[in-house]
Amino acid sequence: MDDEHVKGGSDGESAGDRPEDATVPSVARMYDYFLGGKDNYASDRAAAKKVLEALPTVEGVARANRAFLQRAVRFVAGEGVDQFLDVGTGLPTQGNVHEVARAVRPDAKVVYVDNDPMVVVHARALLATDAQTSIVQADMRSPGEILDAARELLDFSRPVCLLFVAVLHFLPDAEDPAGKMRRLIDAVPPGSHVVLSHAAAEEQRNIRVGETYRSQSASAPLVARTRDEVAALLDGLTVLDPGVVRLHEWRPAGGEYVTDAGWTAVARKDG
Ligand SMILES: C[S@@+](CC[C@H](N)C(=O)[O-])C[C@H]1O[C@@H](n2cnc3c(N)ncnc32)[C@H](O)[C@@H]1O
Repeated sequence: MDDEHVKGGSDGESAGDRPEDATVPSVARMYDYFLGGKDNYASDRAAAKKVLEALPTVEGVARANRAFLQRAVRFVAGEGVDQFLDVGTGLPTQGNVHEVARAVRPDAKVVYVDNDPMVVVHARALLATDAQTSIVQADMRSPGEILDAARELLDFSRPVCLLFVAVLHFLPDAEDPAGKMRRLIDAVPPGSHVVLSHAAAEEQRNIRVGETYRSQSASAPLVARTRDEVAALLDGLTVLDPGVVRLHEWRPAGGEYVTDAGWTAVARKDG
């Protein structure tokens, strides 16, 4: 861990600080449940059902988020970027970043980063024979550790796509999500891209969702942010069309699930 990562802050330990614990609802395994996956335990399902009470559309929102991720990766690969650093990877599912990127750029390299031990075990099993990918167990609050590991596969003198998809809302303001992002953005050259999605505070039910993550003692709290707060995370970058928009509004391909629950953006580092 970096010096900057203070353990045991106001929210206690992070999931990355402890081995897999089936009794603590994991935000990664809850998301797997929302996506219809099987890599979750009773504690995850119980907490996920409470979230469903707060936001009955959450399964559609999770699918919309995955669909955005895939559209964005396809777009960035189409811009010529063939290196991806995916922070907050999630459990492997269909249409993972390396699969989507390689449909456009067959030589694409992907470093996956997650602080959840189960994500890392499953991803290692999936990627064991793939020399163009790696999976790192690290915490977003330790960007130096992420960079050290990513440099083993990625060439930081060439553009990199940094993905922060449905992960920044697991860092409260006290954990300085903008500063942690900035450390990674500062490390990549012009032409690099940032892809992000984030729970929207304008959707009132997300406030109850956040309260539910806390009351269920999930492995991380969930902090929804406003459109302006999400836009501020991209200060200094060129936000590409169509700007900071809802999940279904970002370059729709047709048939998108319509929801106000999340903000998305793709931005480029120009200077
Ligand atoms: C909701 S899932 C999103 C997965 C994927 N990015 C997607 O959008 O489909 C959030 C992921 O971020 C991971 N995560 C949460 N807090 C993290 C942190 N501080 N550092 C690294 N990963 C984190 C969780 O373990 C989980 O796998």
